[in-house]
Amino acid sequence: MATMESLIGLVNRIQRACTALGDHGGDDSTFSSLWDALPSVAVVGGQSSGKSSVLESIVGRDFLPRGSGIVTRRPLVLQLHKTEGRQEEYAEFGHLPRKRFTDFAMVRKEIQDETDRITGKTKQISPIPIHLSIYSPKVVNLTLIDLPGLTKVAVEGQSENIVEDIENMVRLYVEKPNSIILAISPANQDIATSDAIKLAKEVDPSGERTFGVLTKLDLMDKGTNALEVLEGRSYRLQHPWVGIVNRSQADINKNTDMMYARQREREYFATSPDYGHLANKMGSEYLAKLLSQHLESVIKSKIPGITSLISKGIDEMEAELDRLGRPIAVDAGAQLYTILELCRAFDKIFKEHLD
Ligand code: GDP
Ligand code: NA
Ligand code: MG
Repeated sequence: MATMESLIGLVNRIQRACTALGDHGGDDSTFSSLWDALPSVAVVGGQSSGKSSVLESIVGRDFLPRGSGIVTRRPLVLQLHKTEGRQEEYAEFGHLPRKRFTDFAMVRKEIQDETDRITGKTKQISPIPIHLSIYSPKVVNLTLIDLPGLTKVAVEGQSENIVEDIENMVRLYVEKPNSIILAISPANQDIATSDAIKLAKEVDPSGERTFGVLTKLDLMDKGTNALEVLEGRSYRLQHPWVGIVNRSQADINKNTDMMYARQREREYFATSPDYGHLANKMGSEYLAKLLSQHLESVIKSKIPGITSLISKGIDEMEAELDRLGRPIAVDAGAQLYTILELCRAFDKIFKEHLD
Protein backbone atom coordinates (compact mmCIF):
# COMPACT_ATOMS: atom_id res chain seq x y z
CA MET A 1 0.00 0.00 0.00
CA ALA A 2 1.46 3.32 -1.03
CA THR A 3 1.87 6.02 1.64
CA MET A 4 -0.03 9.32 1.49
CA GLU A 5 3.17 11.07 0.55
CA SER A 6 3.54 9.01 -2.57
CA LEU A 7 -0.07 9.81 -3.53
CA ILE A 8 1.05 13.36 -4.33
CA GLY A 9 3.91 11.86 -6.29
CA LEU A 10 1.43 9.78 -8.30
CA VAL A 11 -0.73 12.77 -9.02
CA ASN A 12 2.39 14.67 -10.11
CA ARG A 13 3.18 11.93 -12.59
CA ILE A 14 -0.33 11.92 -14.02
CA GLN A 15 -0.19 15.68 -14.38
CA ARG A 16 3.10 15.38 -16.24
CA ALA A 17 1.71 12.62 -18.44
CA CYS A 18 -1.27 14.83 -19.31
CA THR A 19 1.11 17.64 -20.20
CA ALA A 20 3.29 15.33 -22.29
CA LEU A 21 0.19 14.28 -24.16
CA GLY A 22 0.13 17.82 -25.55
CA ASP A 23 -1.70 17.78 -28.86
CA HIS A 24 -3.74 14.73 -27.96
CA GLY A 25 -5.38 16.52 -25.06
CA GLY A 26 -7.63 19.17 -26.51
CA ASP A 27 -9.34 21.69 -24.28
CA ASP A 28 -12.29 19.49 -23.51
CA SER A 29 -10.55 16.12 -23.50
CA THR A 30 -10.63 13.74 -20.58
CA PHE A 31 -7.03 14.77 -19.97
CA SER A 32 -7.75 18.40 -19.38
CA SER A 33 -10.65 17.41 -17.11
CA LEU A 34 -8.26 15.11 -15.32
CA TRP A 35 -5.75 17.92 -14.95
CA ASP A 36 -8.52 20.14 -13.53
CA ALA A 37 -9.60 17.39 -11.14
CA LEU A 38 -6.14 17.16 -9.61
CA PRO A 39 -5.58 19.79 -6.95
CA SER A 40 -2.61 22.16 -7.06
CA VAL A 41 -1.62 25.34 -5.26
CA ALA A 42 -1.88 28.66 -7.16
CA VAL A 43 0.21 31.53 -5.83
CA VAL A 44 -1.53 34.88 -6.20
CA GLY A 45 -0.77 38.43 -5.12
CA GLY A 46 0.14 41.90 -6.24
CA GLN A 47 3.34 42.62 -8.09
CA SER A 48 6.36 42.46 -5.77
CA SER A 49 4.28 41.13 -2.88
CA GLY A 50 6.85 38.33 -2.56
CA LYS A 51 5.24 35.45 -4.52
CA SER A 52 8.40 34.19 -6.17
CA SER A 53 10.34 34.62 -2.92
CA VAL A 54 7.80 32.48 -1.03
CA LEU A 55 8.04 29.78 -3.70
CA GLU A 56 11.82 29.78 -3.47
CA SER A 57 11.71 29.55 0.31
CA ILE A 58 9.33 26.58 0.09
CA VAL A 59 11.72 24.85 -2.32
CA GLY A 60 14.80 25.96 -0.40
CA ARG A 61 16.62 26.89 -3.61
CA ASP A 62 17.35 29.99 -5.67
CA PHE A 63 15.95 29.41 -9.11
CA LEU A 64 13.28 31.95 -10.00
CA PRO A 65 13.68 35.23 -11.84
CA ARG A 66 12.90 37.85 -9.24
CA GLY A 67 12.92 41.61 -8.82
CA SER A 68 10.89 44.76 -9.20
CA GLY A 69 8.32 45.19 -11.96
CA ILE A 70 6.70 42.40 -13.93
CA VAL A 71 9.11 39.47 -13.88
CA THR A 72 6.79 36.44 -13.94
CA ARG A 73 5.07 36.71 -17.31
CA ARG A 74 3.94 33.12 -17.93
CA PRO A 75 2.42 30.73 -15.40
CA LEU A 76 5.08 28.42 -13.99
CA VAL A 77 3.76 25.01 -12.97
CA LEU A 78 6.27 23.79 -10.44
CA GLN A 79 6.15 20.16 -9.33
CA LEU A 80 8.24 19.21 -6.32
CA HIS A 81 9.17 15.57 -6.03
CA LYS A 82 10.68 14.31 -2.82
CA THR A 83 13.42 11.78 -3.55
CA GLU A 84 14.89 9.31 -1.08
CA GLY A 85 18.43 9.10 0.15
CA ARG A 86 21.29 11.41 -0.69
CA GLN A 87 20.51 11.85 -4.34
CA GLU A 88 21.64 15.02 -6.05
CA GLU A 89 18.98 17.68 -6.59
CA TYR A 90 18.04 18.32 -10.19
CA ALA A 91 15.39 20.04 -12.29
CA GLU A 92 13.67 19.18 -15.58
CA PHE A 93 11.49 21.27 -17.88
CA GLY A 94 8.44 19.94 -19.71
CA HIS A 95 9.73 21.50 -22.94
CA LEU A 96 13.20 19.88 -22.51
CA PRO A 97 12.29 16.40 -21.28
CA ARG A 98 15.70 14.82 -21.63
CA LYS A 99 17.81 17.56 -20.07
CA ARG A 100 18.73 17.46 -16.36
CA PHE A 101 19.62 20.76 -14.74
CA THR A 102 21.83 20.56 -11.66
CA ASP A 103 22.90 24.21 -11.80
CA PHE A 104 19.91 26.21 -10.52
CA ALA A 105 21.25 29.45 -12.01
CA MET A 106 20.71 27.76 -15.38
CA VAL A 107 17.14 26.91 -14.36
CA ARG A 108 16.51 30.62 -13.80
CA LYS A 109 18.04 31.44 -17.18
CA GLU A 110 15.94 28.79 -18.92
CA ILE A 111 12.73 30.18 -17.33
CA GLN A 112 13.67 33.63 -18.63
CA ASP A 113 14.56 32.35 -22.12
CA GLU A 114 11.46 30.19 -22.34
CA THR A 115 9.30 33.15 -21.24
CA ASP A 116 10.86 35.34 -23.92
CA ARG A 117 10.43 32.60 -26.52
CA ILE A 118 6.65 33.11 -26.35
CA THR A 119 6.30 36.74 -25.33
CA GLY A 120 9.47 38.24 -26.87
CA LYS A 121 11.68 40.44 -24.71
CA THR A 122 8.66 42.57 -23.88
CA LYS A 123 6.57 43.22 -20.82
CA GLN A 124 3.73 41.20 -22.35
CA ILE A 125 2.26 38.15 -20.69
CA SER A 126 1.20 34.73 -22.00
CA PRO A 127 -1.19 32.20 -20.47
CA ILE A 128 0.87 29.26 -21.83
CA PRO A 129 2.42 27.63 -18.77
CA ILE A 130 6.04 26.56 -18.34
CA HIS A 131 6.33 23.16 -16.61
CA LEU A 132 9.21 22.62 -14.23
CA SER A 133 9.89 19.61 -11.99
CA ILE A 134 12.37 19.66 -9.12
CA TYR A 135 13.65 16.38 -7.66
CA SER A 136 15.23 16.64 -4.26
CA PRO A 137 15.39 14.84 -0.90
CA LYS A 138 14.81 18.22 0.79
CA VAL A 139 11.44 19.19 -0.72
CA VAL A 140 7.91 18.19 0.24
CA ASN A 141 5.69 16.72 -2.48
CA LEU A 142 3.71 19.64 -3.81
CA THR A 143 2.51 21.23 -7.06
CA LEU A 144 2.67 25.01 -7.05
CA ILE A 145 1.81 27.50 -9.77
CA ASP A 146 3.59 30.86 -9.87
CA LEU A 147 1.47 33.46 -11.65
CA PRO A 148 2.05 36.98 -12.94
CA GLY A 149 1.43 39.61 -10.27
CA LEU A 150 -1.84 41.53 -10.17
CA THR A 151 -1.39 45.21 -10.99
CA LYS A 152 -3.46 48.37 -11.03
CA VAL A 153 -1.85 50.23 -13.95
CA ALA A 154 -0.15 49.33 -17.22
CA VAL A 155 3.44 50.50 -17.57
CA GLU A 156 5.41 51.68 -20.62
CA GLY A 157 5.63 48.86 -23.17
CA GLN A 158 2.44 47.12 -22.03
CA SER A 159 -0.93 47.11 -23.71
CA GLU A 160 -3.76 48.95 -22.03
CA ASN A 161 -5.63 45.74 -21.28
CA ILE A 162 -2.71 44.21 -19.40
CA VAL A 163 -4.28 44.83 -15.98
CA GLU A 164 -7.43 42.97 -17.02
CA ASP A 165 -5.50 40.31 -18.93
CA ILE A 166 -3.42 39.43 -15.87
CA GLU A 167 -6.46 39.35 -13.63
CA ASN A 168 -8.34 37.10 -16.06
CA MET A 169 -5.38 34.73 -16.35
CA VAL A 170 -5.00 34.47 -12.58
CA ARG A 171 -8.75 34.05 -12.15
CA LEU A 172 -8.70 31.12 -14.60
CA TYR A 173 -6.44 29.26 -12.16
CA VAL A 174 -8.02 30.24 -8.86
CA GLU A 175 -11.68 29.86 -9.77
CA LYS A 176 -11.32 26.09 -10.32
CA PRO A 177 -12.88 24.40 -7.31
CA ASN A 178 -9.83 22.14 -7.01
CA SER A 179 -7.40 25.01 -6.83
CA ILE A 180 -5.83 25.79 -3.47
CA ILE A 181 -5.15 29.52 -3.28
CA LEU A 182 -1.96 30.77 -1.70
CA ALA A 183 -2.90 34.43 -1.27
CA ILE A 184 0.20 36.57 -0.70
CA SER A 185 -0.09 40.01 0.89
CA PRO A 186 2.78 42.21 2.08
CA ALA A 187 2.59 43.17 5.78
CA ASN A 188 3.78 46.71 5.06
CA GLN A 189 0.55 47.49 3.19
CA ASP A 190 -2.98 47.69 4.53
CA ILE A 191 -4.62 44.26 4.19
CA ALA A 192 -7.82 46.01 3.06
CA THR A 193 -5.98 46.93 -0.16
CA SER A 194 -4.59 43.45 -0.85
CA ASP A 195 -5.15 42.30 -4.44
CA ALA A 196 -4.73 38.68 -3.35
CA ILE A 197 -7.43 38.87 -0.70
CA LYS A 198 -9.76 40.78 -3.01
CA LEU A 199 -9.58 38.01 -5.63
CA ALA A 200 -9.65 35.16 -3.10
CA LYS A 201 -12.76 36.65 -1.49
CA GLU A 202 -14.44 36.72 -4.87
CA VAL A 203 -13.69 33.13 -5.95
CA ASP A 204 -13.65 31.49 -2.51
CA PRO A 205 -15.98 33.49 -0.27
CA SER A 206 -16.04 30.89 2.50
CA GLY A 207 -12.23 30.85 2.63
CA GLU A 208 -12.07 27.07 2.65
CA ARG A 209 -9.43 26.77 -0.06
CA THR A 210 -7.48 29.93 0.66
CA PHE A 211 -4.25 30.08 2.66
CA GLY A 212 -3.39 33.64 3.68
CA VAL A 213 0.31 34.44 3.68
CA LEU A 214 1.72 37.67 5.06
CA THR A 215 5.21 38.55 3.77
CA LYS A 216 7.60 41.39 4.65
CA LEU A 217 6.86 41.30 8.40
CA ASP A 218 10.39 42.67 8.85
CA LEU A 219 9.48 45.76 6.85
CA MET A 220 6.62 46.98 9.05
CA ASP A 221 6.93 50.35 10.75
CA LYS A 222 8.53 50.16 14.18
CA GLY A 223 5.93 49.91 16.93
CA THR A 224 3.37 48.21 14.71
CA ASN A 225 2.70 44.49 14.27
CA ALA A 226 0.52 42.20 12.17
CA LEU A 227 -1.27 40.33 14.97
CA GLU A 228 -4.70 41.51 13.84
CA VAL A 229 -4.14 39.75 10.53
CA LEU A 230 -2.15 36.73 11.75
CA GLU A 231 -4.67 35.93 14.48
CA GLY A 232 -7.49 36.08 11.92
CA ARG A 233 -9.28 39.19 13.23
CA SER A 234 -8.81 41.40 10.14
CA TYR A 235 -9.86 38.81 7.59
CA ARG A 236 -11.04 35.43 8.68
CA LEU A 237 -10.11 32.31 6.70
CA GLN A 238 -10.77 28.65 7.47
CA HIS A 239 -7.02 28.00 7.58
CA PRO A 240 -4.64 29.89 9.85
CA TRP A 241 -2.61 32.77 8.41
CA VAL A 242 1.12 32.23 8.03
CA GLY A 243 3.65 35.05 8.46
CA ILE A 244 6.87 34.98 6.43
CA VAL A 245 10.20 36.79 6.36
CA ASN A 246 11.83 36.34 2.96
CA ARG A 247 15.18 37.63 1.82
CA SER A 248 15.27 41.36 1.12
CA GLN A 249 16.54 42.76 -2.16
CA ALA A 250 19.82 43.60 -0.37
CA ASP A 251 20.11 39.92 0.73
CA ILE A 252 19.54 38.81 -2.86
CA ASN A 253 22.14 41.25 -4.15
CA LYS A 254 24.60 39.86 -1.59
CA ASN A 255 23.70 36.29 -2.62
CA THR A 256 22.54 35.42 0.90
CA ASP A 257 22.29 31.65 1.14
CA MET A 258 18.75 30.22 1.25
CA MET A 259 19.43 27.87 4.16
CA TYR A 260 20.91 30.76 6.13
CA ALA A 261 17.83 32.84 5.30
CA ARG A 262 15.54 30.09 6.60
CA GLN A 263 17.57 29.87 9.80
CA ARG A 264 17.34 33.62 10.21
CA GLU A 265 13.57 33.47 9.61
CA ARG A 266 13.21 30.84 12.36
CA GLU A 267 15.19 33.03 14.76
CA TYR A 268 13.12 36.06 13.81
CA PHE A 269 9.93 34.37 14.98
CA ALA A 270 11.45 32.57 17.96
CA THR A 271 12.85 35.81 19.42
CA SER A 272 10.05 38.17 18.38
CA PRO A 273 8.21 39.85 21.27
CA ASP A 274 5.12 40.13 19.05
CA TYR A 275 5.06 36.73 17.36
CA GLY A 276 6.96 34.49 19.79
CA HIS A 277 3.75 32.75 20.92
CA LEU A 278 3.01 31.84 17.26
CA ALA A 279 6.60 30.90 16.35
CA ASN A 280 5.91 27.22 15.59
CA LYS A 281 3.12 28.19 13.17
CA MET A 282 5.08 30.77 11.20
CA GLY A 283 7.72 30.74 8.47
CA SER A 284 8.28 29.12 5.09
CA GLU A 285 9.14 25.64 6.32
CA TYR A 286 5.92 25.47 8.32
CA LEU A 287 3.99 26.77 5.30
CA ALA A 288 5.48 24.05 3.07
CA LYS A 289 4.42 21.33 5.52
CA LEU A 290 0.96 22.80 5.99
CA LEU A 291 0.36 22.92 2.23
CA SER A 292 1.69 19.44 1.61
CA GLN A 293 -0.55 17.99 4.35
CA HIS A 294 -3.55 19.85 3.02
CA LEU A 295 -2.86 18.75 -0.55
CA GLU A 296 -2.63 15.13 0.60
CA SER A 297 -5.98 15.25 2.33
CA VAL A 298 -7.62 16.98 -0.63
CA ILE A 299 -6.22 14.37 -3.02
CA LYS A 300 -7.44 11.58 -0.77
CA SER A 301 -10.95 12.99 -0.85
CA LYS A 302 -10.82 13.23 -4.66
CA ILE A 303 -9.62 9.70 -5.39
CA PRO A 304 -13.04 8.36 -6.53
CA GLY A 305 -13.45 11.18 -9.07
CA ILE A 306 -9.88 10.83 -10.26
CA THR A 307 -10.14 7.06 -10.79
CA SER A 308 -13.30 7.40 -12.83
CA LEU A 309 -11.64 10.02 -15.05
CA ILE A 310 -8.60 7.80 -15.45
CA SER A 311 -10.81 4.86 -16.45
CA LYS A 312 -12.50 7.08 -19.01
CA GLY A 313 -9.06 8.17 -20.25
CA ILE A 314 -8.00 4.56 -20.60
CA ASP A 315 -11.08 3.74 -22.69
CA GLU A 316 -10.47 6.75 -24.92
CA MET A 317 -6.81 5.89 -25.36
CA GLU A 318 -7.60 2.30 -26.24
CA ALA A 319 -10.06 3.50 -28.86
CA GLU A 320 -7.49 5.94 -30.21
CA LEU A 321 -4.83 3.21 -30.37
CA ASP A 322 -7.24 0.93 -32.25
CA ARG A 323 -7.83 3.72 -34.69
CA LEU A 324 -4.09 4.30 -35.18
CA GLY A 325 -3.55 0.58 -35.56
CA ARG A 326 -1.04 -1.66 -33.83
CA PRO A 327 1.90 -2.14 -33.86
CA ILE A 328 2.41 1.55 -33.27
CA ALA A 329 4.64 3.08 -35.87
CA VAL A 330 4.21 6.78 -35.23
CA ASP A 331 5.43 8.79 -32.25
CA ALA A 332 1.94 9.79 -31.24
CA GLY A 333 0.90 6.19 -30.87
CA ALA A 334 3.99 5.30 -28.88
CA GLN A 335 3.42 8.22 -26.52
CA LEU A 336 -0.23 7.32 -26.05
CA TYR A 337 0.77 3.77 -25.34
CA THR A 338 3.22 4.81 -22.62
CA ILE A 339 0.61 7.00 -20.98
CA LEU A 340 -1.98 4.26 -21.23
CA GLU A 341 0.40 1.99 -19.31
CA LEU A 342 0.92 4.72 -16.72
CA CYS A 343 -2.82 5.22 -16.30
CA ARG A 344 -3.43 1.50 -15.89
CA ALA A 345 -0.81 1.44 -13.13
CA PHE A 346 -2.36 4.46 -11.41
CA ASP A 347 -5.83 3.04 -11.71
CA LYS A 348 -4.66 -0.01 -9.80
CA ILE A 349 -2.89 1.98 -7.08
CA PHE A 350 -5.72 4.46 -6.60
CA LYS A 351 -8.19 1.64 -6.27
CA GLU A 352 -6.02 0.12 -3.56
CA HIS A 353 -6.30 3.41 -1.70
CA LEU A 354 -10.05 3.17 -1.85
CA ASP A 355 -10.11 -0.24 -0.21
P1 GDP B 1 6.75 38.93 -6.70
O1 GDP B 1 6.75 39.99 -7.73
O2 GDP B 1 5.47 38.89 -5.95
O3 GDP B 1 7.14 37.58 -7.24
O4 GDP B 1 7.84 39.36 -5.60
P2 GDP B 1 9.36 38.93 -5.41
O5 GDP B 1 9.45 37.64 -4.70
O6 GDP B 1 10.07 39.05 -6.71
O7 GDP B 1 9.83 40.03 -4.36
C1 GDP B 1 9.83 41.41 -4.69
C2 GDP B 1 10.88 42.12 -3.83
O8 GDP B 1 10.49 42.13 -2.44
C3 GDP B 1 12.26 41.47 -3.87
O9 GDP B 1 13.22 42.50 -3.88
C4 GDP B 1 12.34 40.70 -2.55
O10 GDP B 1 13.65 40.60 -2.06
C5 GDP B 1 11.50 41.57 -1.62
N1 GDP B 1 10.86 40.77 -0.55
C6 GDP B 1 9.96 39.76 -0.71
N2 GDP B 1 9.56 39.28 0.49
C7 GDP B 1 10.25 39.97 1.44
C8 GDP B 1 10.29 39.92 2.89
O11 GDP B 1 9.61 39.11 3.54
N3 GDP B 1 11.12 40.80 3.51
C9 GDP B 1 11.90 41.71 2.81
N4 GDP B 1 12.66 42.54 3.50
N5 GDP B 1 11.86 41.79 1.45
C10 GDP B 1 11.07 40.93 0.78
NA1 NA C 1 8.24 41.09 -9.17
MG1 MG D 1 7.35 36.86 -9.32
